Amino acid sequence: MMEGAGALAGRRIVVGVSGSIAAYKAVTLVRLLSERGAVVDVAMTAAATRFVGPLTFASLTHRPVLDNVFELDADQQIAHIELAEAADAIVLAPATANLLGQLAAGLVSDAVTAIACASRAPVIVAPAMDAGMWTNPATQRNVATLRDFGYLIVEPEVGTLASGLTGVGRLAEPPTILDAVERLFARAGDLEGLHVVVSAGGTREPLDPVRFIGNRSSGKMGAAIAEAARDRGASVTLIAGAMSVTPPRGVTVVDATTAAAMRESVLRAAPQADILVMAAAIADFAPARASQHKIKRSGANLQIELVPNPDIVAEVGEMPDDVRPFLIGFAAESDDLETNAAAKLRDKGLDLIVGNVVGGPFDAIGSDENKVTVFAAEGALSDWPMLPKRQVAERLWDLIADRYRHARGMAEGAETGRGRRRS
Ligand code: PMT
Repeated sequence: MMEGAGALAGRRIVVGVSGSIAAYKAVTLVRLLSERGAVVDVAMTAAATRFVGPLTFASLTHRPVLDNVFELDADQQIAHIELAEAADAIVLAPATANLLGQLAAGLVSDAVTAIACASRAPVIVAPAMDAGMWTNPATQRNVATLRDFGYLIVEPEVGTLASGLTGVGRLAEPPTILDAVERLFARAGDLEGLHVVVSAGGTREPLDPVRFIGNRSSGKMGAAIAEAARDRGASVTLIAGAMSVTPPRGVTVVDATTAAAMRESVLRAAPQADILVMAAAIADFAPARASQHKIKRSGANLQIELVPNPDIVAEVGEMPDDVRPFLIGFAAESDDLETNAAAKLRDKGLDLIVGNVVGGPFDAIGSDENKVTVFAAEGALSDWPMLPKRQVAERLWDLIADRYRHARGMAEGAETGRGRRRS
């Protein structure tokens, strides 16, 4: 993979610093970025300058610091517009609750918001604030809006806060933010030219016009995988079961809320896909008959006959090589993750399987985070901690893109796109 020291060389990166005690960490971040060859410009809000002096950043970057919107540069150009256009990426660290609110609302009041608003470069946001502010519904809504805009959020960490209390809200450490920046450049476009199909959410098997047998899948995992693939340049089809989250913009959404509809959609889409990721929780059984009328209460026990649904991903696994996509399944297990995942990998004819736990403290279903292990025929390929699902998705694509390239006989580092060999 291209990830590493070279990814930042010569990149124009604007670091926007807002008024938080964590502004001192931006000094380390700027140093790390500069050491990796990035050309770093720093913009500061007025409040940020009360925590760290602009001279500190100017000394590190050997470039002027922008701390007001009325500055012209040496060529009498409007400095914040120049920077917004030149930037390859914008990193807002620390981002206060106020900055998040302004960005989400499209408000401009200083150099930092002006650059973020005017630029078309990808934006990485590393929030820092008191735990109460972070969990406040308005902040969470603003973060969700920014994610919708395509901003990449580096989640704040749990730790001791400026108040002395312990909670979530501490700015991620500079190496973590640096990692996000490096990944951004290493990944940009690495799925370009590929058509990726992702299934997400749960299926609902009707019992009568109002009732169904369903599951708790929210679609968050599949949506994150689809969104990450979109951001890396793939054309994405999301086959959506019942989901509690809005599908990402810019992907083609096919609704399929029963196992039968999911089967039809997946089997139709698979031969056109380069990569199929089956994150949907598909019912293994369905009522033998769905009543046309609402089942009445009778006082007696109700017997429902359940019949097995077809194993959709296994059907794709059996497709001939020229139409079978590179195939990734998920295994949702309450016990014996490794053994069960290995059996599913083999029995369903998958290239990779992503194992995750359901139930208990690491419950993957419905939560915003997930702890997954990826397995191939030779065994476990990953050992990742519990991570936000978007970060899980990024790591999955790092791994999938790499394995896909090898499976299709493409050179390391070669563009993955247009790699499908069809007869
Ligand atoms: O949606 P979230 O709330 O974010 O939760 C995410 C998740 C836990 C649902 C997700 O990470 C996950 O594990 N999805 C797969 C759930 C599942 O159905 O696992 P399984 O072990 O029962 O199935 C194995 C594989 O076969 C899956 O890829 C599944 O999509 C597929 N399958 C299952 C049944 C069926 N009839 N046809 C299938 O293709």
